Amino acid sequence: MTKILFVCLGNICRSPLAEAIFIHRIAQIGKGDLFEADSCGTSNYHIGSQPDSRTIANARSNGVRINHKARQFSITDFDSFDLILVMDKSNLRNIQSISNKPEHLKKVGLLRSYDENKKAMEVPDPYYGNESDFQEVFNILNFSIENLIRKEFNLSPRAAE
Ligand code: 4NP
Repeated sequence: MTKILFVCLGNICRSPLAEAIFIHRIAQIGKGDLFEADSCGTSNYHIGSQPDSRTIANARSNGVRINHKARQFSITDFDSFDLILVMDKSNLRNIQSISNKPEHLKKVGLLRSYDENKKAMEVPDPYYGNESDFQEVFNILNFSIENLIRKEFNLSPRAAE
């Protein structure tokens, strides 16, 4: 079992969508039993909240089921997860400030490092944006996760639908 954690600031926009896309893609190829995915935020702003209504609408319009309650990153997550993928450099700094153990820090990386076509290293924060910003986030996450599954786990995800 490989356990993967997606991290953003609020855990209501980007990381719950990343978690939902990952679960969707893995289920599509019949490998759901091999993975567990979760998401969390570095902040405590939205603990206990459902994803943002725009995230829920976006996931639905892209045919992805989303079901998550926001929680904050905890130091115990370093031991609970095999891979911790963050959305932006501020998330990275925040996570890196919580532990200095090499066995913890080697698990942490930017999700977009898997995006071969990247124009930037970060998944932009859509919180103050509009519907098209949420769709751009979906496209970035979808492409990055497709490559993550291919490169990190040597599996062949189905082409985006
Ligand atoms: P997320 O987006 O980090 O992708 O969940 C945000 C959600 C809430 C806030 C900022 C970003 N906020 O400032 O409340």
